[in-house]
Amino acid sequence: MKILVLNGSPKREHSDTMHITRAFLEGMNEATKHDIHIIQVIDKHIEFCTGCFSCMRNGGTCVHDDDMREILEEILTSDLLIWSFPLYCYGMPAPLKALLDRTLPLSSMAMQKVGDRYEHVGQADFSHLRYLMICGCGFPNSRHNFEPAVAGFKLCFPGSHTIITVPESPMFNAPEAAAVTEPRLALVKQAGRQYAETGEINESLLAEIGTPMIPEEQYAAIVNGGV
Ligand SMILES: Cc1cc2nc3c(=O)[nH]c(=O)nc-3n(C[C@H](O)[C@H](O)[C@H](O)COP(=O)(O)O)c2cc1C
Repeated sequence: MKILVLNGSPKREHSDTMHITRAFLEGMNEATKHDIHIIQVIDKHIEFCTGCFSCMRNGGTCVHDDDMREILEEILTSDLLIWSFPLYCYGMPAPLKALLDRTLPLSSMAMQKVGDRYEHVGQADFSHLRYLMICGCGFPNSRHNFEPAVAGFKLCFPGSHTIITVPESPMFNAPEAAAVTEPRLALVKQAGRQYAETGEINESLLAEIGTPMIPEEQYAAIVNGGV
């Protein structure tokens, strides 16, 4: 499988969230060897979408000539897109959101009703693509935190999406927290293996991965102690 990882953390490989993503990829690679390419989104030249819609008309191309041309080609030749990002203001960091906006050339202006909502008709064939969101965050609570990002991801990629969220993610970069982060990363690795073998991750494993690694109050006390 050709896997394209979009690392949306401006911390690049030092990202807390990338610990989760790397564990997932390790699990996938244990099942079968995959061809993996990681893009550090922050290092790419990606202009903001101007909203002109010229890309969506008659097979048009974007008015910007930047790194997005190559990224779009790579997206279309991949089998799995992994969106790895930290939660920023209940959504994705701005550089990754700019990339998402700039995928507009893959759609046309034409709309079609699918179920109870409208979607744009594709200009390119990306029906083979599967989508995985891996999102870490700084608060210990998942409720009243991840919902907007999860809802947005599901709406953007209604077919074949899988979502992994992990609270208390700064702990992945704290060696002294290894006693709790290593077992969590082992579960994520198991999820990666399961995903490679079956194309999905069972709900109970996802739920376990999404729980706080240490009690919320203890985590908050540690953070507050260092302020
Ligand atoms: C601008 C900004 C906004 C943030 N917003 C949230 C948020 O809405 N909820 C949350 O739990 N953490 C939030 N955080 C904390 C990050 O999600 C957290 O530090 C995460 O572990 C960083 O991951 P990374 O190392 O992969 O970039 C925010 C951090 C920044 C810098």
